[in-house]
Amino acid sequence: MGPVILAIESSCDETSASVIRNGKVLNNIIASQAVHRKYGGVVPELASRAHQQNIVTVVDEAMEKSGLSKTDLNAIAFTRGPGLMGSLLVGVSFAKGMSLALGIPLIEINHMEAHVLAHFIDDPVPEFPFLCLTVSGGHTQIVLVEDYTTMQVIGQTQDDAVGEAFDKAAKIMGLPYPGGPLIDEYANVGNPKAFHFPVTSMPGLDFSFSGIKTAFMYFLRDEKLKNPAFVEENLYDICASLQRHLVTMLLTRLEQASVQTGIRNIAIAGGVSANSGLRSALKNMAEKREWNVFIPEFEYCTDNAAMIAMAAHFKYLRKEFCSLDVTPLARMPIGLA
Ligand code: KG4
Ligand code: ZN
Repeated sequence: MGPVILAIESSCDETSASVIRNGKVLNNIIASQAVHRKYGGVVPELASRAHQQNIVTVVDEAMEKSGLSKTDLNAIAFTRGPGLMGSLLVGVSFAKGMSLALGIPLIEINHMEAHVLAHFIDDPVPEFPFLCLTVSGGHTQIVLVEDYTTMQVIGQTQDDAVGEAFDKAAKIMGLPYPGGPLIDEYANVGNPKAFHFPVTSMPGLDFSFSGIKTAFMYFLRDEKLKNPAFVEENLYDICASLQRHLVTMLLTRLEQASVQTGIRNIAIAGGVSANSGLRSALKNMAEKREWNVFIPEFEYCTDNAAMIAMAAHFKYLRKEFCSLDVTPLARMPIGLA
């Protein structure tokens, strides 16, 4: 019988726990934090307090649903970073406490590597090497994945993440947080060619999304001077045009990365991979370029502990444990840990 591992994720605003046995994820319990909605974004201090309130029940539920007891556990895994310091601290401290109490090893996991390894939870799994576009509220990266442990970031945003661009644009239009899913919904019934926005060009395979946010703000300000009801009257077309623009920025770089590396196994991960415009554009690109495309279940795209558990399983097999002195890292590059 293979290892049984309890994994904890608390890097941002999701408190999550998962139990994995012999590489099979048994459950994935997630407590989302509604407290941030009225502030239009994640408030770090409130996030860490909510993690403290949720973590015991989330872990208990994962253990209970697994049908196993704590004495069956062979290791405890946790997200060391990157993420919000106060949020990470809750998960790290809790994992340390359990490891000490149960006398079992600790496994530190890099959150960004875990997003990539989420592709190994369910079939079909991608073949190495593959490229993974990780897109969420906090990250926008193109990762070249050679195997479970060797990964290299070959392109990334130099400022805002693409999810942040969706959410901030939504906020400027007066939509609630997080605005990404709403823009997606409205975009489905709008004209994507109604409006045009400037492309910020970055060297190599890097991205920049802060310029589009500012351009979008001035665009709306100018249009509203002419017609105060501009947003209300054109909401669907604005959303469709903006979404098309952001998706094109992502896919242009991904296509370049594939051409440069010669890799045609392409995966996407992170909350923004739920975007229907991105999914359909990716499918079109796959036909045009003969790509094999991999998109995980939505549950494993957004922040979750199942991906931490999957990454921990591979580390357990290599006996890569960490000491009880481990501390969280708010900034943690891929390849560290
Ligand atoms: O991975 P995630 O749950 O959390 C982190 O940020 O790490 O991603 C959340 C992000 C938010 O910015 C949200 O607006 C975006 O994913 N998102 C979407 C969609 N669903 C979630 N953006 C565009 N279209 C969607 N359907
Ligand atoms: Zn994430």
